Amino acid sequence: MTDSPYAARRARVIEAMNRLGGGVAIIPTAPEVPRNRDSDYPYRHDSYFYYLSGFTEPEAVVVLDSRNGQSILFCRAKNEEREIWDGYRYGPEAAREVFGFDAAYSIDELDARLPQLLANVPALFYALGASARQDEQIRGWLNTVRAQSRAGVTAPESAHDVRAILDEMRLVKDAHEIGIMARAGKISAQAHVRAMQTSRPGLREYHLEAELLYEFRRHGSQFPAYGSIVATGANACVLHYRAGDTECRDGDLCLIDAACELDGYASDITRTFPINGKFTAAQRTLYDIVLASQQAAIDATRAGARFDAPHEAAVRVLAQGMLDTGLLKTDTHGSVDDVIASKAYSRYYMHRTGHWIGMDVHDCGEYRETAPNGGERPWRALRENMVLTVEPGIYVRPAPDVDERWWNIGIRIEDDAVVTANGCTLLTRGVPVDADEIEALMRG
Ligand code: GLY
Ligand code: MN
Ligand code: MN
Repeated sequence: MTDSPYAARRARVIEAMNRLGGGVAIIPTAPEVPRNRDSDYPYRHDSYFYYLSGFTEPEAVVVLDSRNGQSILFCRAKNEEREIWDGYRYGPEAAREVFGFDAAYSIDELDARLPQLLANVPALFYALGASARQDEQIRGWLNTVRAQSRAGVTAPESAHDVRAILDEMRLVKDAHEIGIMARAGKISAQAHVRAMQTSRPGLREYHLEAELLYEFRRHGSQFPAYGSIVATGANACVLHYRAGDTECRDGDLCLIDAACELDGYASDITRTFPINGKFTAAQRTLYDIVLASQQAAIDATRAGARFDAPHEAAVRVLAQGMLDTGLLKTDTHGSVDDVIASKAYSRYYMHRTGHWIGMDVHDCGEYRETAPNGGERPWRALRENMVLTVEPGIYVRPAPDVDERWWNIGIRIEDDAVVTANGCTLLTRGVPVDADEIEALMRG
């Protein structure tokens, strides 16, 4: 793996550790999780671990020693008996070679080797308080080191959260990552096209989910990036609804928020379309408001803009639309500025317009900068190759003070945007957003 990005990332972490005085970092992968009796949930590695290793087997730990710049992998030993049942394991020797580590050992040696690695080290870097199991392991290793104090051995005197280093690195994607995210976005967009083309009254939500999953998987995606939402009719106003068994009804909308994970990277797309292929006038009115708000947010997404700028731009368009349609009454709610100041729009738009996306669909990374004097922390400025979603919506629940024509309409439109110097590049436009284009696609 000479051209591997993983070794380069490990070297960057080591540099950052040295700037903080140096030490040893411990980054484990995720545990296997039982689902029921002896069946596990599908295994998914830990994102931080994978970012530094490219290694997907369970029971593995990356250790970085900033004093000598070494990176060490602990992984499962070769085991012919287990490999007959569960499949191939690299084993330390091959894993060291293939994944470019300086040393690799069996995970069975972790408890013996970690106290040696932590002896006389100034600081420990790990995910503080993230896992009771890891906290317990570290306590054991530290106590083994402390037990040697009369022999002059010292234990680390301080701890740093290694995620503070990794989160900053993960926020700005490299070319390798953006390449994978672009492929994930393309597959997910094709899946939405397929769902639109399949849609007709009488199907159930799970039929459309099946089409999405088929498309993800046949293009090599390992998993959906998150639980797929296929929400028809009133279900679209339940923000965390999952694909259920509701029948797709003539005249209703279908909101699909579903996308694949590919090679460890998420995509995240929402489209809203009429089940029968033709928007009603009321649906179209609200749809076009959401679409215009998304365009305003996209226009506000560029290097140097604050993270909040796309949200503010979307909210302004949505608030105007709510006043224009009478969803909010001018005599009660006043002007657009009043609606924004009072947050009256949040009755119909209660979530934010985007989030970081990367290995995790809601990716790591601070949304605010540190304030110099402990004052209010400003939203962070966008930088080139940060990736975020743009996902405004309108959700109208039935209520006596709301015109019945809007009831149960739930609309969201979501794309994934890579920040560029002068704007952004959308990774997920392989499926249309324009209402006429959606109708044409569904007719075709
Ligand atoms: N699908 C998760 C989200 O849109 O944030
Ligand atoms: Mn989404
Ligand atoms: Mn999202």
